[in-house]
Parts: sequence; C-alpha cells; structure tokens
Amino acid sequence: MDAIELLKGRRSIRSFENRPIDEKTLNKIFEITRWCFSAVNRQPWKFYVIRKKDLINEIAKECITGRFAAEAPVLVVLVGDIEEQPKWYVHDLSFVSLQLALAAWTFGIGTCWIGNINRDTVKQLLGLNEKDFILTVLPLGYPKGEIPSPRPRKELNELVIYLD
Ligand SMILES: Cc1cc2nc3c(=O)[nH]c(=O)nc-3n(C[C@H](O)[C@H](O)[C@H](O)COP(=O)(O)O)c2cc1C
Repeated sequence: MDAIELLKGRRSIRSFENRPIDEKTLNKIFEITRWCFSAVNRQPWKFYVIRKKDLINEIAKECITGRFAAEAPVLVVLVGDIEEQPKWYVHDLSFVSLQLALAAWTFGIGTCWIGNINRDTVKQLLGLNEKDFILTVLPLGYPKGEIPSPRPRKELNELVIYLD
C-alpha cells in the first residue's frame, strides 16, 4: 500500500470479524505508532491493550457513541500523562491516535475514534490515576463485510486559501 492509498483509503470501521489479531501484528502496529511526532518529543502516551472479552464488554458499555467496540477483538485505550506534558497532551494524544489508525490500516485492521466515553468509569476499570487522561478508546479488528464508502469531504476550494 502506498502512502497516498493509505491516507485517502482509510475508513472508520465499526463492525469487526470475530477473528483475533496476533501479537506480532499488534507489536508491529505499536512499533510504527511510537514514531509519531509530539511536542518537545515528550511522547506522553501509553497504550492499554485490552483483549479479555469481559473487560472489552465492560469498556464498550461505557463507550456511549461506540458500543460497537464490543465486537472488536482488541481495544486500545489511549492514555495521556497530564503531568508529563501539561500543555500539549491532548494534541499529542490526538496525533498518535491517527498514527495508530493508519498503522493498523496497513495491516488490514480497522478502527474508529470514539469520542463520547464515560471516561471516569473506564479510568476506574483500568485502575488509572488522577494524572491519566483517556483521550479515546480505539477498537481494533478486521473489518466485517465491505469497507464503507468514503464519507464526503469538503472541496479543496472551500478549504485552501492561497494568499498570493
Ligand atoms: C474527534 C473524533 C471523534 C469521533 N467520535 C466518534 C464517535 O464517537 N463514534 C463514531 O462512530 N465515530 C466517531 N468518529 C469518527 C468520525 O465519524 C469519522 O472519522 C468521520 O465520519 C469520517 O469518516 P472516515 O473516518 O471513515 O473517513 C470520530 C472521529 C474523530 C476524529
């Protein structure tokens, strides 16, 4: 897959095959993900990998706009360290979430960013601390059925302003 195909072809996936992701593949995804840029290269992120079905179900229940996460064989809870990077942690975590999504896609694995989450409850389920910030839960899995058609994008002339 070339970079253009990757960047233009990725889709949010909300339905997953009942098929595990082997650990080698997961490690390759995280190996690519860790090369994401971050403010002053602080890399204030941790990836909590959930593969136990019971815990997947419990977390998925707290994903208000992402209950489909229950179908995925793997959940990655993306956790930022607020103390390590108080100013830019949201930006850094957001960037790394994209890097993870793109890395996964190169292995045929889909995900979807989930925004509305009962974060305090998920924090409790994972035994996280005050300084930990949950940005999102990314369900990972092989897409079930057809890859969704692209959602529309704004036209370039609405977006790009050349000030020549
Ligand atoms: C910050 C953010 C929050 C999102 N929240 C949700 C969500 O809660 N549930 C969901 O199903 N999709 C969510 N999405 C996925 C978007 O709906 C999706 O990226 C968008 O419609 C474009 O589709 P595409 O990713 O297939 O190109 C979110 C995406 C972003 C970047």
